[in-house]
Amino acid sequence: METKEATRLNEAFLSFTLASKSLEAYYDKLHERVKHLTEELRIKNNQIEELERHEERNKRLIAMGEMAAKIVHEIRSPLCSIELYAGMLVNDLQGSRHVELAKGISSGIKSLNNILTNMLLFAKSHKPAFGAIDINRVVDDSLHMLMPMIESRKIRLSKDVSCWQGAQKSGGSVYVSGDSELLKQVFLNILLNAVDATPEGGEIRINLKSQNGRIGVEIIDQGEGIRQEDIERIFDPFFSTKARGTGLGLAIASKIMQVHGGSIMVQSEAEKGSCFRLCFSEWRQA
Ligand SMILES: Nc1ncnc2c1ncn2[C@@H]1O[C@H](COP(=O)(O)OP(=O)(O)O)[C@@H](O)[C@H]1O
Ligand SMILES: [Mg+2]
Repeated sequence: METKEATRLNEAFLSFTLASKSLEAYYDKLHERVKHLTEELRIKNNQIEELERHEERNKRLIAMGEMAAKIVHEIRSPLCSIELYAGMLVNDLQGSRHVELAKGISSGIKSLNNILTNMLLFAKSHKPAFGAIDINRVVDDSLHMLMPMIESRKIRLSKDVSCWQGAQKSGGSVYVSGDSELLKQVFLNILLNAVDATPEGGEIRINLKSQNGRIGVEIIDQGEGIRQEDIERIFDPFFSTKARGTGLGLAIASKIMQVHGGSIMVQSEAEKGSCFRLCFSEWRQA
């Protein structure tokens, strides 16, 4: 009897030990799982904090962009008046030895104005006002704006329209669908870079080509050229090799070309010069 009970007791003890062992194993598993979940929670929490920081930073950047846009706008108005007066002064002083000084003021203000326009375009996204644009005219307008700078540096300028099919078609005009102010900014930025790269007395050539509904404008300089390792980066915002460069000119130009469904390409060799090629589709009446 006693041995029977003892065996039952033993059996009970054994099954208790087994149950407690499996409970222990289960507890260990549970412990592992809790550890794993805690770690996951920690990672997720970090991610949320990171996102919150990111959003906060974005909000601050947007606010800063808006503030910069306002400041730029305020500075630009008086600057435009000064630019106008400087231009009048250049005209009044024609023939006098002070004309070069007035041209210096005029071109300095134009560069300033251009920097501010680029900043404004970068800080705010602009909706283009599309219309039928005569590219030849936009190029001429941009050249006209830069004339004081080009003349004061004695740069020779030539424009070749021999491959401009439109010249025969419609009195020199070939149209693209675009925003003339934005496209003017593209040409200004690329021409300004060409002027910067060209030594005094150097040459800048502009070729206008139009064929089978495609329009190309090439701006070629024989200046310092671009190093192979820099070519990839010249369209990045804030990339500049100039002591006083903003690095915004080409970033803005490529953004504007993008919204026009066009493209911008560059071929350049250090010490030999650069060619920037802009391509558009010809505007067709619907
Ligand atoms: N025609 C060019 N000749 C030589 N380098 C050029 C030319 N155009 C652009 N670059 C290079 O590309 C860089 C970026 O140009 P950009 O975006 O206009 O900025 P920034 O003119 O303010 O430097 C310039 O700093 C220069 O190194
Ligand atoms: Mg530039």
